[in-house]
Amino acid sequence: MSEKETLLTQEVQRVVNNFKNKVMQDPYRLKFHLMPPVGLMNDPNGLIQYEGVYHVFYQWNPFDTTHGSKFWGHYTSTDMVTWREEPVALLPSESYEKNGCYSGSAIEVEGKLYLFYTGNVKLEDDSRETYQCLAVSSDGIHFEKKGPILTLPKGYTPHFRDPKVWKKEDRWYMVLGAQTYEEKGTVVLFTSDNLYDWQEVGQIAGSGMHGLKEFGYMWECPDLINLNGTDVLLVSPQGVKSCGHLYQNVFQSGYFVGKLDYEKGNFSHGPFTELDRGFDFYAPQTFETSSGRTILFAWMGITDEMEEHQPTISNHWVHALTIPRNLSLREGKIYQNPVEELKKLRKNQVVITNEEKALLNGLEISTSELLLELQNENSYFNISFRNEASLCFDPSKQEISLQRRNIKTNAIESRTCKIKSVRELQILLDHSSIEIFINNGEEVFTARYFPELRDKTLTIQCDTDYRLHYWDLE
Ligand code: FRU
Repeated sequence: MSEKETLLTQEVQRVVNNFKNKVMQDPYRLKFHLMPPVGLMNDPNGLIQYEGVYHVFYQWNPFDTTHGSKFWGHYTSTDMVTWREEPVALLPSESYEKNGCYSGSAIEVEGKLYLFYTGNVKLEDDSRETYQCLAVSSDGIHFEKKGPILTLPKGYTPHFRDPKVWKKEDRWYMVLGAQTYEEKGTVVLFTSDNLYDWQEVGQIAGSGMHGLKEFGYMWECPDLINLNGTDVLLVSPQGVKSCGHLYQNVFQSGYFVGKLDYEKGNFSHGPFTELDRGFDFYAPQTFETSSGRTILFAWMGITDEMEEHQPTISNHWVHALTIPRNLSLREGKIYQNPVEELKKLRKNQVVITNEEKALLNGLEISTSELLLELQNENSYFNISFRNEASLCFDPSKQEISLQRRNIKTNAIESRTCKIKSVRELQILLDHSSIEIFINNGEEVFTARYFPELRDKTLTIQCDTDYRLHYWDLE
C-alpha cells in the first residue's frame, strides 16, 4: 500500500468509527438492503461471483453525504442475504484518479479478480480528465493498481466513463458511457485480446442513432448482457425530456433489446424501455452467477435536488442499493424478481383471505413482505403503506400509480405506468424503502419513503376478492 493509500485508509477508519453508532441507531436504516457504513453510497460496481462468493462493490463517499471524491466500498456474501463489510477496495490515491475512482465492473481471469473503473480527474478550471483503469487481486479483497489502460479517444468529451467488461469467445469487450463532441449521449464498444490494449469498435447506440430521436446529452453505466440468447443493452441516459408518464425522474435507466454484430460494432435494436417505474432507481449493473442466473442491483437513489433533504443525512448516511433481482426476458420485455434466496428472511407467515379482512387491523408492517393475489385482475384497488405511500390501480385507465410524500415540499407526488391488468403484487418493505413487483416482475416500482415511526398501518381497499400472504422479514 502506498503512503497515500495508508493515510486515506486511516481517515476512512476514523470516520467510520466516529459515526458508525449513529448510523446503526437510525430508525430509517435498512435491514436487508446494502447501505453505506457511513457517508454516501451510489452506483453498484464490480458485481461478480468469484470463487463462490458474491462481491458487491459500490461508489462511496465515506467522508460526507454529498457526491465527492469516490472510493469503492466492498461487501461480500455467500447467499446474497447476509453481507460482510470488507476493507475499502479502491481509494483515489493516484494522480489519474485523484477526484474519484468512478464506476466500473469486474471479471475473473485465470483465478484473479480484475476491476475496471474510471479514474476521474478535475482540473483547476473546472474541466475534467478521464482514464479507464485496471486493478487486480489474487484474493478478491486486496487490489493492486495497474493504472490507466485506455485514454480518451477522439470524438468524445471527458464525460466518458463506467467500463463494463465481458468475454465473448476468445476476445474481451468493453462498453463505456459517453458524450460526443456534439453533446449527445452514446455507448462506445471496445475490444481487446489482452485486457491492456483496447481498440475502438464504434458507437453501438446513442441519442439520434438507429431511429432514436433526441435522447439525452450523456449516457452513463452501460451494461451489455445476453438473456435467453438475445442481446440487451442496459444504460442510464441523462437529459431525456419527460413524455406523458414516461421519463419522470431527473435521469433514466432502461434497456434496448437487439442484436450486436461484434465485428462491425452494429447493434440493431428496438425502443428504450424503463426498467423501473418508481422514484429511486439508477445506474443498475448485472452479473451472471455460476448457475447462469442474471442478477441486477441498482442504486436505490438518484442525484436530484431532493437528495440533500433525506432525513438520514443528520445521521451521517444517505442512499442504498436495491435488493438483488433475477432478470428474465419474455417476449422482448425484461421481468425482474427478487432472488429466491431472499425467502430466507421470511418469518411469521400470516395468510388473510377475503372473509378475514378484519385481521389486517392487527398487522404491523415495517420490514415486511406482502404477496397479494387478486381474484379479478381488472379490479380497482388502493393500498396504503404506513400512511406515507400508496399504490393504486385504475382498471378504467389501465394505469397503476405509486404515490408518496415529497420530503422537500410535503406535497404528494406520483409515478404512473400503463398496465393492462394486475393479478399479483409482491411487495418488499424495509424501514425506509418499498419495492413493488407487479405480475411476477412485469413492472417494478422502487422508492424510498420515510413514514412516521409509530405508524405501521396497512390498508387495502379492493373491489375484488383477494388472498394476502404476509411475512416479517428478519
Ligand atoms: C452514475 C455516475 C457514474 C459515475 C459515478 C460517480 O451515478 O455518475 O457515471 O461513474 O456515478 O460516482
